Amino acid sequence: MQIIQSIEELRSIIREWRKEGLSVGLVPTMGYLHEGHKSLIVKAVSENDKVVVSDFVNPTQFGVNEDLSSYPRDIDRDAALCQEAGASLIFHPQAQEMYSKDHCTFVDMDSLTKGLCGKTRPTHFRGVCTVVSKLFHIVTPDRAYFGEKDAQQLAVIRRMARDLNFDITIVGCPIVREADGLAMSSRNTYLSGEERKAALILHKSLMLVEEMMKAGEQDAAVIEEAIVRSMKTEPLAEIDYVEIVDAETLEPAAKIDRPVLTATAVYIGSTRLIDNFSFQPQTF
Ligand code: PAF
Repeated sequence: MQIIQSIEELRSIIREWRKEGLSVGLVPTMGYLHEGHKSLIVKAVSENDKVVVSDFVNPTQFGVNEDLSSYPRDIDRDAALCQEAGASLIFHPQAQEMYSKDHCTFVDMDSLTKGLCGKTRPTHFRGVCTVVSKLFHIVTPDRAYFGEKDAQQLAVIRRMARDLNFDITIVGCPIVREADGLAMSSRNTYLSGEERKAALILHKSLMLVEEMMKAGEQDAAVIEEAIVRSMKTEPLAEIDYVEIVDAETLEPAAKIDRPVLTATAVYIGSTRLIDNFSFQPQTF
């Protein structure tokens, strides 16, 4: 399996695939791959003739005080995982290949990106939309695969693909969890042993939400209060946000009378983790 660094080289390979009438799937990643990424690649392999995994720590989606320089990287380990999952190639460009020195064009969005993670990461989704648009133009995939763990990102990318008429099917894939419930994330590697245990509070609190919603609780404020109380039982956890929102518009939902997303971001020590739970009421 090849690791390609140049956009031109990748384009010429894709042109050859297209001449043969092959379909192409794209799995965009920032590397340091885990079983969650692997599940995206395996799904992409089952639905496309060729699968490109992009492995690029995108600088434009990190804020000034965020973890760009310390973000974990290991291309050899990533290549082994991609090979095992059946990917056709890895696109692993340098930052200067993706962004020329005088790069000044960005893709931004008026709604969907202001709440949830956008509140504390105001430039994050502009960076995500920009790099994903670039990858869409470079790879021209038939389908692109994103994890549901980043539920806001998935909603943002679906909307961007619709609004900008990308002829690409956006495929959302279920959250993959460790055996004890922690959602898989490249950032889990930052956690100490004690923090790793404390991080279980996210899933535990979201399970409480599931229980309440399934039991018919309709008042979002009551559920939000319960989840905050649950999170506060863990001394190492500091809540960034806990919100119940409409699954499509990401606007706050006062009542559980339509598909909703309960999304949370929590600091465990200095590591910010996100997780969520999607729910569709029976009567909807
Ligand atoms: O989800 C990620 O890893 C990144 O935000 C993405 C979609 C690869 C863009 O850099």
